[in-house]
Parts: sequence; C-alpha cells; structure tokens
Amino acid sequence: MSFTAIIGGTGLTKLNNLEITHKEMVSTPYGTPSGPLTFGKICDLDVVFLARHGYQHTIPPHMINYRANLWALKNVDVSKIIAVAAVGGITSEMGPERLVIPDQIIDYTYGRSQTFFEDDLSFVTHIDFTRPYSDEIRKVLLDSAESLKFDAVDGAVYGATQGPRLETAAEVNRLERDGCDIVGMTGMPEAALARELDLEYAACALVINWAAGRGGQTEISLQEMEKCLESGMTRVKQLLETALPGIESCTTA
Ligand code: HPA
Repeated sequence: MSFTAIIGGTGLTKLNNLEITHKEMVSTPYGTPSGPLTFGKICDLDVVFLARHGYQHTIPPHMINYRANLWALKNVDVSKIIAVAAVGGITSEMGPERLVIPDQIIDYTYGRSQTFFEDDLSFVTHIDFTRPYSDEIRKVLLDSAESLKFDAVDGAVYGATQGPRLETAAEVNRLERDGCDIVGMTGMPEAALARELDLEYAACALVINWAAGRGGQTEISLQEMEKCLESGMTRVKQLLETALPGIESCTTA
C-alpha cells in the first residue's frame, strides 16, 4: 500500500480533519525528521502528515532536516506529497490570501544538505528537474480549487530564499527580474529531494503578505501575516480534503 503525505508549513502544524490512527518516529541515516509521522484518515483516505517546522513550530527554514523528512516519508511507503507553504507575493496577481499552485522554482538557498547522492556512489547521479512539480498532482489541486471556487493561480515561479529573515526590497526586485512570482524559504531542497527519491510532489502555496517593498507598504507587518495565515489555512485544509481522493488515484507514482 502507498500513502499520500501532506507536509504542513507555517500555520499548518495540525490537520483537524485528520482522524489520527498512530504516530511513528522514524530514524533515518540522515538524522531525525521534524517530528513523528502522523498516520490517519481524512474522509476514509489514508494520509501521513508531517509538520515541516515541527509540531510546535520551532524549527526555522534553514535548520529543517529536509533529507530526514523526505527519507522518512519514503521509508513508510509514501509515494505522493502535497507540500503546503506560506509565501510572500511578488507579482501583481499574487496578493495576500491568494492560493497558488507553482510550476517552477528558482533556488537561492545555500548551506543546506540538498542531495542524497553524495556518499558511497558507484556512479555520479543526476535527476531531471526541468519540471520540478508533479503535473498530475498540480492538476488535481487546480481542479479541486476550481470546484471550490477558490480562484487559485495556475503556475508561478517560486523563489526559495535562505531566511530566516525576510528579504530586502532590492532583493525582491532582483527576484522579480529573475522571473519569480512568489517567495518562500522552504521550497528547496525539499522538492529536489522528493524527485531524487522518485516521489510525486507538488506544492500548494498560500500568499500571506506582499513581499518586501510591494503592495505600497514600507515594512511587512508580522501581525497581518498571522491574520492572513489563519483565514487562508482554513481554505487550504478544505482544498486538501477535496483534492485527496483525486491524488490517491493519480497513477504516475
Ligand atoms: N519572504 C520569504 N518567505 C516568506 C514570505 C516572504 O515575504 N512570506 C512568507 N514566507
């Protein structure tokens, strides 16, 4: 049997519609995941949940053990992953509260363990990463959003920054010149590690603020971000619930 996993980001440390069956701490050759894997059912479908920043939201983006998280999920027979992420909006369509299903990534992170392919190699291994997200899972997410009338954006370039600080306005200008539409701190190396393990992976991003220097603001209000997270994550949970049956029946994994 293979499972679908949900990796929860900021604002999603718990799924209240998940009927928990058990929790399992998986030890991995790469160290400890962000917390025990939570197994359960949503509308009778088997799901594994993991809070990326830990269940108490204590692990900052640059300290997350992405390799342990992905390896642990693979090890319990997860084959598909929906990664939930709170992001900043850069381009005009990406205002706060917007749901976005990105289709591309630019990686600006550094100093993170970003591959499984580095030790004891019998040959050098590369992955194709032309299309970093699963088209099939993206489509299910988009169709589900449409059925809920959530007006999600189909396709965006996710700029993955190092954090934990937010960007300067000049950095956001550079991200836009590079072609980024949204900015977050956890999209990489998570997506690449999923591909290395042959896991089908797509992201559901919730915009919780205009990125630095955008939206007519002189600074980013952390309180506004919190408010946006709360209201937005309710919609994300609805979207996940609606999408799960379709994702379970995706055949590519
Ligand atoms: N920048 C980077 N990461 C983020 C932001 C942002 O503006 N908002 C939420 N996560």
